[in-house]
Amino acid sequence: MSIVADNEIVLKDKEFRRIGTLVYKYCGITLNEGKKELVRARLAKRLRHLGLSSFDSYIDFATKDTNGAEFISLIDSISTNLTSFYREKQHFDYLTSVCLPALEKRKTQLGKKRIRIWSAGCSSGEEPYTIALTLLDYFKDKSGWDIKILATDISTKVLESAQKGMYTADRVAPVPTDLKNRYLTKQKLGPDMYYQVKPQVKNMIFFARLNLMEQWPVKGPLDVIFCRNVMIYFDKPTQEKLVGRYWQLIEDGGLLFTGHSESLTGIEHKFKFVQPTVYEK
Ligand SMILES: C[S@@+](CC[C@H](N)C(=O)[O-])C[C@H]1O[C@@H](n2cnc3c(N)ncnc32)[C@H](O)[C@@H]1O
Repeated sequence: MSIVADNEIVLKDKEFRRIGTLVYKYCGITLNEGKKELVRARLAKRLRHLGLSSFDSYIDFATKDTNGAEFISLIDSISTNLTSFYREKQHFDYLTSVCLPALEKRKTQLGKKRIRIWSAGCSSGEEPYTIALTLLDYFKDKSGWDIKILATDISTKVLESAQKGMYTADRVAPVPTDLKNRYLTKQKLGPDMYYQVKPQVKNMIFFARLNLMEQWPVKGPLDVIFCRNVMIYFDKPTQEKLVGRYWQLIEDGGLLFTGHSESLTGIEHKFKFVQPTVYEK
């Protein structure tokens, strides 16, 4: 075991570039110079744990197998997973007031009461659970609807939390009280209070690890795709390719929601602009 402290392990420019190339090729994330200290600090913990004294030796070790645990752990440490319940609430208001009424009408006319939504880059689950709560609330007095949400992320660490569906009281603070009472169970664990998402909500969601840069085992057509605060880490060509792939999967009239700072301006796409961060096929 190495005796150097995390902050004494130096990340050389050459090593940082090596990690950058690797991460970009594997998952599209662009690591600019500003991320160097973050990458160093996060990976230094792994180096220390493994008893390695240089980043080069760590990269050699982690890349022996890109399906291996250490490579997955490297990607987990690089990804930024910030999220929250009802993040960018205007999207859920738009779902309730515009999108779902239109979907309900269209699907009822077609005799297909089926809704399929994808949360691409779902992080620790707050986004797909918020989608589920929004739909449960909207359809609470309407029967016969088959609603499924696919929730995917590249990080196994966040997916594990997502699948657990257990959140502290401050995490669920943005959830409206009536929905909290109906769909979450309050639990005391040690000195802390937690909220457990009920099976009724969990059963609407299928969680899976998926790298957006690879093949997708997703058939479609989908009614709505949420890909929010994910493309911000990708360069323009990668974003353009991804948005094109979303277009193929979405049904006519379906929607793509992006994050607050992810306008599709400057990339070629076929979506119709509805309002900032909301696009329609
Ligand atoms: C900042 S979080 C956004 C979470 C949520 N969509 C939201 O807006 O609150 C970005 C997520 O994208 C995931 N991600 C980044 N690159 C990815 C890729 N190539 N494939 C799948 N997920 C990716 C990260 O692991 C992370 O959990």
